[in-house]
Amino acid sequence: MPAAKEYPPYVTYDVVGRRPSMLLQAYPRPTFNRDENYYPINALLSPHFASEDENRKFGAATFCAFLEDTVEVEHCLVIPAIVAMRRVPYVPPPEVEQDLYKIATDEGYHAEQAFHFLADLRGYFGLTMSDEHRAPLFLRRLDQQRAWEPDPVRRDLITVMNGVVTETRISIELGKFASDSYLGKSVRELCHSHAEDEQIHSSQFRALGRWLWESFDADMKAAAAKFMTDSTIARSIPDVARIARLVHQATGRSIRESRRLVYSLYNEEILLKDMLVAAQPTVSFFKHLGVGEYEAFEGALERETQRLAAELAAQRVECS
Ligand SMILES: [Fe+2]
Ligand SMILES: [Fe+2]
Repeated sequence: MPAAKEYPPYVTYDVVGRRPSMLLQAYPRPTFNRDENYYPINALLSPHFASEDENRKFGAATFCAFLEDTVEVEHCLVIPAIVAMRRVPYVPPPEVEQDLYKIATDEGYHAEQAFHFLADLRGYFGLTMSDEHRAPLFLRRLDQQRAWEPDPVRRDLITVMNGVVTETRISIELGKFASDSYLGKSVRELCHSHAEDEQIHSSQFRALGRWLWESFDADMKAAAAKFMTDSTIARSIPDVARIARLVHQATGRSIRESRRLVYSLYNEEILLKDMLVAAQPTVSFFKHLGVGEYEAFEGALERETQRLAAELAAQRVECS
């Protein structure tokens, strides 16, 4: 099996002199004051809301969707990525494995903390699950990607790389929320403690991603480049159908009316632009590794643009 290259350095809690947030057992809770905002303003949709209250309720619904994603990402992407390392023929040094299991513990707490806030918001605003008891779109797409792969080792490597993809983007995203003064203090606190842990995770997953990539032979690099690129896009493309359901929940518009509004405002360029903002840290990291020499990111973007254009056109017809 591939001889391990020297494992890249990474940051741990001991190195930065902090403790994992799960040791604090802090559960920031919303206050529901009228000026407590839960999500940045949606510039596209905001002009179509009837009042500030509707705007704020849409923000609460969107943050609920974000927290639902957090629960799903922790349990269905990151923890499985760590466990899947047991099944691939690339064995990191023992202390690295031990540190990865520390991440798995953190993630369970992040999911619990998110779930707490989510339950409060749902109860107060009368919101329900944004995905109708299904896994979020990005998880469905990533599951499909795995299902198409016949080779079991590559299937497990997809699981590991999905962890790398998500863990290289999340600390930046949470950091933006934590420093956004438009958002309520409770939201910023929740995101801040999570972001601090994720800085450590990001460093560890970058080291893991780099080490795996450098251990791959040319064949494996070619296969991995394809699924790393596809995962990067799939993980961050906004789910338009879900946005329409959030509008429906927040405004009382019928679901058909909400879909008509959302599909008239969103197009493939906007979705790709939003995806690129969220995925930027992962895109830069993979570019730095040399993934683009095996799979052109621009080509994958072009394919996704065409797929989205066809899907949006079909949805517009359906709700017209
Ligand atoms: Fe987390
Ligand atoms: Fe994490």
